[in-house]
Amino acid sequence: MYKEQIDMARLPQHIAFIMDGNGRWAQARGQQRSYGHFAGADTLEATLRCATKLGIPYVTFYAFSTENWSRPQDEVNTLLDLMLKHLEEKIFMENDVKFLLVGDIENLPQNLRDASERLMEKTKNNKAITMGVAFNYSSRWELAHAAKIIAKEVKEGKMKLEDITAETIDRHLATGIMPNPDLLIRTGGEQRLSNFQMWQLAYAELYFTDTYWPDFNDECLYKAIVDYQSRQRRFGKTGEQVTENK
Ligand code: FPP
Repeated sequence: MYKEQIDMARLPQHIAFIMDGNGRWAQARGQQRSYGHFAGADTLEATLRCATKLGIPYVTFYAFSTENWSRPQDEVNTLLDLMLKHLEEKIFMENDVKFLLVGDIENLPQNLRDASERLMEKTKNNKAITMGVAFNYSSRWELAHAAKIIAKEVKEGKMKLEDITAETIDRHLATGIMPNPDLLIRTGGEQRLSNFQMWQLAYAELYFTDTYWPDFNDECLYKAIVDYQSRQRRFGKTGEQVTENK
């Protein structure tokens, strides 16, 4: 129903997802929270396929924050296992997906770090879509990390203090080569950023839905894109200026 309404010439180039509601989805079914994460991982795969088919060049999924380590140990283990299991080279190569781990990779368990680095290297020339997975990620960690690297470069004389611009910060973020998201979709009914890409989302359109992540399907994605295309993106200009420029 919504798919036909999408203007294929104005697709968002990068969609970011905060996949919320797995726990509540599972509990509503009398199941453990981990059951919701397994279902959520299936939704992630289906969403990636749908975005690839549409021709969206970049997607990012927020899978594990630097604060999620404080969840119950069995839930943390489930999320680590799920991530490891999904870093399957074969699937990425078959679908021509370029993988990017977005987050504090140095402080991941060694097996996950090795698998992520291997997969990034292996898939670096894939072209159909680039998928970022934010894992052991938070925006405040990322900005503090960028500040440390920049300060070190200034201290070592590799950069001048007065040369630091917004672009310098951009270059030192964990999202690296990815353009900033045009559209952020958060499922599960909450309306907040939860420490996710606060710098990169400066001009993103925000879309919130009550649908729990495991129930999010192709139709939900089409609906979000149609909603995105109904908005006027002004980037600080007036509505009239934007209309004139068109
Ligand atoms: C938020 O829901 C979701 C997460 C913290 C984890 C998201 C992870 C996945 C969807 C699976 C990841 C899969 C791969 C391949 C990396 P919540 O648990 O906070 O839900 P609640 O708000 O209902 O409690």
